[in-house]
Amino acid sequence: MVSDYVYWDPGVNIGVEEIDLEHRTFVALINRLESVKTDCALAPRVLQELIKYIAFHFQSEENIFFESGYPELEAHRLLHLALLEKLNVALMELRSGQIDYDELLAFFRSWYLHHTVKEDRRFAGFLAHAADDDAAQEQRLADGAGLPAAAANLPSLTRVPTAWLENMLSASIRLHADEVLSLAGALRTTHSAVADWVGALAADFDYPEIAKTIRSALDERAARRS
Ligand SMILES: [Fe+2]
Ligand SMILES: [Fe+2]
Repeated sequence: MVSDYVYWDPGVNIGVEEIDLEHRTFVALINRLESVKTDCALAPRVLQELIKYIAFHFQSEENIFFESGYPELEAHRLLHLALLEKLNVALMELRSGQIDYDELLAFFRSWYLHHTVKEDRRFAGFLAHAADDDAAQEQRLADGAGLPAAAANLPSLTRVPTAWLENMLSASIRLHADEVLSLAGALRTTHSAVADWVGALAADFDYPEIAKTIRSALDERAARRS
């Protein structure tokens, strides 16, 4: 069985059925884009299909935000717009054969994950508190309530074995949550701060941040060796 490029994780649900279903379709389309990476004729069509779906999803999300009186609608809309602009440029580049497909896929996966768990979830936090009285709600928004828990500070990775870093990089890039947590668990007795750091980011579904940090630690090691 061919494994998915991006896994659907029910933990990313924001609790609004319409949005959650659309995010699920979004994941399926990213996986479809990955599955046609070697098909030069089909890939631009799939990307175009994905762009259309994303535009639809953004509109649908913004309508729900508007109807709910979400105060961060405008800032959120700008994030959506920026992605659509980038994807339209990517589509032109893909059609002319001037694009790094793997880079495009990695960007997509990272964007999807960050945007859904960081930005779309802000709205879930807003909704969760919307029934409370205005004064309490204002205070909570000022305090950033409803946001995912802040990640722990990055501990030193200097003494962490290279093989562990390589395995963690691979698992976090593939968004394999179970593997990430099991690797973190394996390090708990010797490097508990690193295990905590991974655990905090994994709880936020921030696997791209884990991958980015570990990749730079591995790059530093490689630079020291050369
Ligand atoms: Fe979304
Ligand atoms: Fe969004």
